[in-house]
Amino acid sequence: MIYSKDDFKLMRKASKLAMMTLDFIDEYVKAGITTEELDNLCNEFIVKNGGISACKGYSGYPKYTCISLNHVICHGIPTDKRKLHEGDILNIDVTVIVDGFFGDTSRMYKVGKIQPIAQKLIDVTYQSLWDAILAIKPFDPLNKVGDVISKTISKTGFSVVRDFCGHGVGRRFHEDPTVLHFKNKYSEEPLKPGMIFTIEPMINVGKPDTKTLSDGWTSVTKDHSLSAQFEHSIGITDKGVEVFTITDEEEKIYGKFLDKWN
Ligand code: MF3
Ligand code: CO
Ligand code: CO
Repeated sequence: MIYSKDDFKLMRKASKLAMMTLDFIDEYVKAGITTEELDNLCNEFIVKNGGISACKGYSGYPKYTCISLNHVICHGIPTDKRKLHEGDILNIDVTVIVDGFFGDTSRMYKVGKIQPIAQKLIDVTYQSLWDAILAIKPFDPLNKVGDVISKTISKTGFSVVRDFCGHGVGRRFHEDPTVLHFKNKYSEEPLKPGMIFTIEPMINVGKPDTKTLSDGWTSVTKDHSLSAQFEHSIGITDKGVEVFTITDEEEKIYGKFLDKWN
């Protein structure tokens, strides 16, 4: 899809609510709370602020957000059976719909003091996302995203998950293009102004292999190694890249390298 400047405005609004939900939930991420309680808190915040969760009911998905702990790669289902423990790392992935547009973003959270390897994993996963965002410009080939992410990760001994990818987003939750996070020749398609998609690298401490649990959703590392993920929804403008789900902190650091299509 090629979106207009007016569409970018709507995308900005939906994405801002998704980002604010991740900000909002931060103070609740503590030992003892269940992932279901976090899910319900996110949903209350989303609804109070004029959005609805895109996840609930999507292909039968049962909850409002995805919460993926430790060796869970993505699509972890919040549950009242799982309380957070000291040392856990988790990804919370929020997608909201506002005025017909989908804002999709996720980030990592920590419970108390975590292992040094977990911290390193979180740091390089975050870095790989921003390396990719800052590397691309209009008319670059789409597969530059995967080139940059694999280059950052190759220095660490960690691995890039291949079974899940980024995706076009906007008026639909998932649409073209498919955004691979590993080095590939599949898409030399040029990044055109008006394109909107996510970049959401999943990085494992061990091997890239994934396994889906019997609930049909939860994806875990086959070797049970830790996994981390960060996700932003971005748009290609005539001059550069707009990050719709950018945080205030990131805006201060990276804002000067980014564009906003007004
Ligand atoms: N937010 C996820 C993504 O980044 C998709 C979650 S689909 C759900 O694409 F049904 F599991 F919520
Ligand atoms: Co996504
Ligand atoms: Co997401």
